[in-house]
Amino acid sequence: MKEIITNNFEETQKLGEDLAKTLQGGEVVCLEGDLGSGKTTFTQGLLKGLGVEGPYTSPTFLVMKEYKPHPDPLLKKERRIMNIYHIDAYRVGPDDILALGWEEIIANPKNIVIVEWSDRIQKILPKNCMNIKFEWLDENRREIKID
Ligand SMILES: Nc1ncnc2c1ncn2[C@@H]1O[C@H](COP(=O)(O)OP(=O)(O)O)[C@@H](O)[C@H]1O
Ligand SMILES: [Mg+2]
Repeated sequence: MKEIITNNFEETQKLGEDLAKTLQGGEVVCLEGDLGSGKTTFTQGLLKGLGVEGPYTSPTFLVMKEYKPHPDPLLKKERRIMNIYHIDAYRVGPDDILALGWEEIIANPKNIVIVEWSDRIQKILPKNCMNIKFEWLDENRREIKID
């Protein structure tokens, strides 16, 4: 468990960018925390670190958004991570997410799945889900716990 306090949104993005470098493919990254606690900000850093080019529009009116990492011409071997899914489960339940092809998506080792409000779909989360909790401390500070 790692506990970090960030002092501005850039630090939270940087944390996401750093974590992205450790991902191999096949991970489900679960983000918990209230509105405004920094889940989307962190996700933007993750996407950047995974080589997705912005702008990263928020999936507020979309339950799931799919991204492709930009192919890096300097990389000799094919990039292992091919698809990145950003899910916002705030207004939905497990059945809605299952209907998107969830089981197949999380089973593919070429995918990274990022879930905001993962607690809303607790019962369909894999056991090896990476858990990250966000807490609002004040205007500019957030506490981020990475399991
Ligand atoms: N340390 C910080 N980390 C993340 N966001 C911060 C921080 N300080 C201020 N903010 C602001 O808080 C808001 C976080 O919103 P967002 O990332 O959309 O949260 P969530 O997705 O959890 O609802 C943004 O407007 C961001 O600029
Ligand atoms: Mg959000």
